[in-house]
Amino acid sequence: MNILVIGPGAIGSLWAIKLQQDGHQVAVFGRQTDSEYQCQFDESCYTFNNRQADDVTHADLILVTVKAWQVASALDSLPQPINPDTIIMLMHNGMGSLDTIGSLLQTNPVLLATTTHGAFKPSSSQLIHTGQGETLIGAANAQGGRCQFLRDVFDHALPAVHWHPQIEHALWRKLAVNCVINPLTAIHQCPNGELARPEYQAIITRLIAEVSTVMTAESIPVNLEQLTAHIYQVIHATSKNQSSMHQDVYYRRKTEIDFITGYLIRSATKHGIAVPENDTLYQHIKTLEQQWESLNEL
Ligand SMILES: NC(=O)c1ccc[n+]([C@@H]2O[C@H](COP(=O)([O-])OP(=O)(O)OC[C@H]3O[C@@H](n4cnc5c(N)ncnc54)[C@H](OP(=O)(O)O)[C@@H]3O)[C@@H](O)[C@H]2O)c1
Repeated sequence: MNILVIGPGAIGSLWAIKLQQDGHQVAVFGRQTDSEYQCQFDESCYTFNNRQADDVTHADLILVTVKAWQVASALDSLPQPINPDTIIMLMHNGMGSLDTIGSLLQTNPVLLATTTHGAFKPSSSQLIHTGQGETLIGAANAQGGRCQFLRDVFDHALPAVHWHPQIEHALWRKLAVNCVINPLTAIHQCPNGELARPEYQAIITRLIAEVSTVMTAESIPVNLEQLTAHIYQVIHATSKNQSSMHQDVYYRRKTEIDFITGYLIRSATKHGIAVPENDTLYQHIKTLEQQWESLNEL
């Protein structure tokens, strides 16, 4: 397939390399203006076309791996309109980016994906695959539902990949995990495992109860006990990891809070549900972001 990866950061480079290794014609669209992107991985150097208009025109699949809040601007910055037959797959943490992609949802097959692989770029041209994981993909519209063959394509390149018939359910489950782990570890600047300490138990219980109420209002099947057990299982399994929001706050980068806790709050408001614990965490992260923005403007 002709595949264009928009946003060759950590996750985008991992998929670009794995899909190229598997024989696909892969190009990237990054922010650097060079016509090629080179990336070192496992002792080899991989080269991709970068920012070529032809690669947009001829793409069978566009894989968008920018952060949730960057999706709209990345798609808007392409030098060519996207062909209506091109499949678009959004792969990022958080929910709500579909609302930002405009008319593409009406014209193109659109898929959503979520992955638990870990990837890290120690420099702009180096990639480390820090942890094996699994990837779920599913349809965001009816045309996307006819693209199940992509499970095999992606699974062959970097297993394990599963097709999820109701990807929204999986994304909500991931959102629940992220609503708990990301803001708490970012605010307290602690690894995920710290959240297993007794002093966090009360707030985690309240956060999960709020998320679970909103999920029920959204008709997402949820069992409070199972969700709680799942979130603690993730906390233990990733105990030494620093969440992405923890790192974003540490490096004073814009976080994905608007597409994680922010999405939950928008959904809660729609259903008239109060989510005070999530509101407090959201305001805390937004205040931090605003402080850096005002410092940058000085
Ligand atoms: N890394 C992981 O292990 C991991 C695991 C699971 C899920 N995720 C999720 O996957 C998503 C991507 O994460 P990541 O760690 O790969 O982030 P990342 O390394 O920051 O990658 C995002 C890439 O998109 C580029 N970009 C931003 N705006 C762009 C634009 N307008 N046009 C073209 N490229 C643009 C960025 O360029 P600059 O570098 O110039 O900003 C960067 O290279 C996030 O939602 C994250 O939460 C990550």
